[in-house]
Amino acid sequence: VDTVKLAVIPGDGIGPEVVTEALKALTAATEGAEVVFEQTAFSLGAARYLETGDVLTDDDLESIKGHDAILLGAVGGVPGDPRLAGANIERGLLLRLRFELDHYVNLRPSVLYPGVASPLAAPGDVDFVVVREGTEGPYVGNGGAIRVGTPAEVANEVSVNTAYGVERVVRYAFAAASARPRKKLTLVHKTNVLVFAGSLWKRTVDAVAAEFPEVAVDYLHVDAATIFLVTDPARFDVIVTDNLFGDILTDLAGAISGGIGLAASGNINPDGRFPSMFEPVHGSAPDIAGKGIADPTAAILSVALLLDHLGRADAARRVQRAVVADIADRGTARRTTSEVGDAIAARISALD
Ligand code: NAD
Ligand code: IPM
Ligand code: MN
Repeated sequence: VDTVKLAVIPGDGIGPEVVTEALKALTAATEGAEVVFEQTAFSLGAARYLETGDVLTDDDLESIKGHDAILLGAVGGVPGDPRLAGANIERGLLLRLRFELDHYVNLRPSVLYPGVASPLAAPGDVDFVVVREGTEGPYVGNGGAIRVGTPAEVANEVSVNTAYGVERVVRYAFAAASARPRKKLTLVHKTNVLVFAGSLWKRTVDAVAAEFPEVAVDYLHVDAATIFLVTDPARFDVIVTDNLFGDILTDLAGAISGGIGLAASGNINPDGRFPSMFEPVHGSAPDIAGKGIADPTAAILSVALLLDHLGRADAARRVQRAVVADIADRGTARRTTSEVGDAIAARISALD
C-alpha cells in the first residue's frame, strides 16, 4: 500500500465547507485502492492572520514542501476588511505557494458537461484547457511606486518573462495538446502591443512547434480571444498564455461552462521537485460563507485533477464520472453543500 502525504489548506469562508466535501470524494474514490492519503491540515488564511499575525511562516512552508500534494479550498477575507489592510493574504500565501513551489503550470480545464446551462445561446462542444503560466508575468511583484498619494505618483508593475520560464510552460502545453484528440494549441498574447514579451512567447511557440509536428498551432490576440470564447468556444483545445491573461480568460471560461462553482484547477510543478496544489478557481465567497450553500463541485473536480497528477487515473475517472452523473441529474433542485458532496461520494462508491 502506497502512502500519499496530502497537505490540506481549507482556508477561509467557503474554503473549509467545500474541502470537507472534496475529501469525502477522495475517500470514496480511493476506498479499497492500494493507496492511503495521510492528511495534514494547515490553518492558513485570513482567519489565521487575524488570530496570530502570520500569513505563511517559513516553518509552514517547509512542512508543506514535505508533502506529495496540496488540496486548497480558498483563502482571503472579506474585501475591504480594515483589519486585513496590513496583510496581503493573496500575495503572501497563495502566490507565495505558487512561486516557492515552482507551480509554473496553472492548469484550468473548461468543459461544458451535459445538463449544464451556459449563458451562451449556442456554446457548442466546449472542452478546452487553459495552460496558464504560474510563476512569472506581472504577478512577480517587480514594481514599485514613488510620490504615492501625490499628483505626481508613478506606479510600475513590470511583467517578467524569461526564456526559461516561457519555454517550459510552452513545452508542457504542446505535450498536453499532443495527448488530446484534437491536437490544437492556441497561443494567446498581445504581440501587437506587448512587443518584447510577445516576441519571446511567439518565437518560443514557433521553435517548440517544430518538435510537435502533429500539433496544429494558432495565435490570437487576447482581446480577440475573449470574442471567440463567447461566440465560438468550441474552437479551442489547448490555450497557452501568460499569468495575467490566463487569470482573466479562465474566469470567462468558467462563466461560459457552467459557472464558478464548477471550475477546477491545478497548480502544477511538472518536474515533481515540489508538491503540486489543487484548488477550485473560486475564492472564499464571504457573501455565502457559513450558509452551507456553496457548490463543492469545483473542489471535488480539483480532487480528480489531483488524483490524475498522482498517477491515479482510475480513481480520477471515478470522481469525474460521478460528478458528470450528478450534474446531469441536478435540475433546479436546491441542495446544501453537504447534500451535493454526499450525493457525489455515494455515486463514486456505487461505481465499479
Ligand atoms: P469569489 O470567487 O469568492 O466570489 C465571487 C462570487 O461567486 C460570489 O457571489 C460568490 O458567492 C460566488 N461563488 C464563489 N464560489 C462559489 C461556489 N463554490 N458556489 C456558489 N457560489 C460561489 O470572488 P471574490 O468575491 O472576488 O473574492 C472573495 C475573496 O476570495 C477575496 O478575498 C479574494 O481575494 C479571494 N480569492 C481567493 C482565491 C483563492 O483562494 N484561490 C481566488 C479568488 C479570490
Ligand atoms: C485565481 C485568483 C488569484 C490569481 C488571486 C486570488 C491571487 O484570482 O486563482 O485565479 O489572480 O491567480
Ligand atoms: Mn482569478
